[in-house]
Amino acid sequence: MSGRPIALVTGAARGIGAACARALAGEGFRVAIHYNTSSEAAEKLAGELPESFALRADLAVPAQVEALLDTLGERAGRVDVLVNNAGLTRNAPTPVMKLDDYDAVAALARGTWYLTKLMLRRFMMKQKSGRIIQISSVVGHIGNRGQSPYTMAKAGLDALTRSLALELADRNILVNSVAPGFIETEMAAALPDQVKNRILERIPLGRMGTPEEVAEVVAFLATRGSYIQGSVIHVNGGLYGG
Ligand SMILES: NC(=O)c1ccc[n+]([C@@H]2O[C@H](COP(=O)([O-])OP(=O)(O)OC[C@H]3O[C@@H](n4cnc5c(N)ncnc54)[C@H](O)[C@@H]3O)[C@@H](O)[C@H]2O)c1
Repeated sequence: MSGRPIALVTGAARGIGAACARALAGEGFRVAIHYNTSSEAAEKLAGELPESFALRADLAVPAQVEALLDTLGERAGRVDVLVNNAGLTRNAPTPVMKLDDYDAVAALARGTWYLTKLMLRRFMMKQKSGRIIQISSVVGHIGNRGQSPYTMAKAGLDALTRSLALELADRNILVNSVAPGFIETEMAAALPDQVKNRILERIPLGRMGTPEEVAEVVAFLATRGSYIQGSVIHVNGGLYGG
């Protein structure tokens, strides 16, 4: 087994997750790069980071979450940091949003909860240490047109952070959220120009953020920030202050 601490980053093949994986590797972590569909990108990233490895799971499927934990047990034997970064939007005005769209978003939220629960049981409670960092979103606080299930899921993630922070404080496990504003990734690129321009007008810093600007806060919470518990750290260029 490696002497490096282990971090699992979900949805790490691209975007904010990939930036988190790089930032954590820069802090000396061996990173488990979780992906669902982008195996090529995940394997490539793992090849670039010391002792890192890629592993696949659809987090919406409980048996695959369980298998992910088994693989982590075999390959790493412990997990010091969990970054719950995987996220999914389905965009449509609520009156025409399909129930299937709601279910897809909710299934990932359930999977995130299940992964966290198993992570606690299998590793962090026994280790009596760990850090969990949720990547939520500003829209869980301020809402967003056409994203009602996503905003529910992200608000729920911050509520999970609060609950876990209370449950786990005496176990030496720190749980916090990082709530990005609008960040330049493929997820944001999928937004129509009209929506993007409307957003830019509302951001006091006048630009979208970069994945690296989110990742540096994640790296801070993973390695320092020892008196931060149950907090939501906003990274949004002034759009919303919490
Ligand atoms: N980009 C933004 O502006 C922005 C703003 C606020 C919050 N966020 C959040 O940051 C996180 C990363 O976003 P991103 O912009 O890099 O998006 P992204 O779409 O590039 O990354 C999301 C990842 O989640 C994974 N994922 C989705 N459903 C999954 C499932 N069922 N099982 C396993 N993995 C699954 C995808 O494969 C993808 O790699 C997400 O949680 C997103 O909600 C993004």
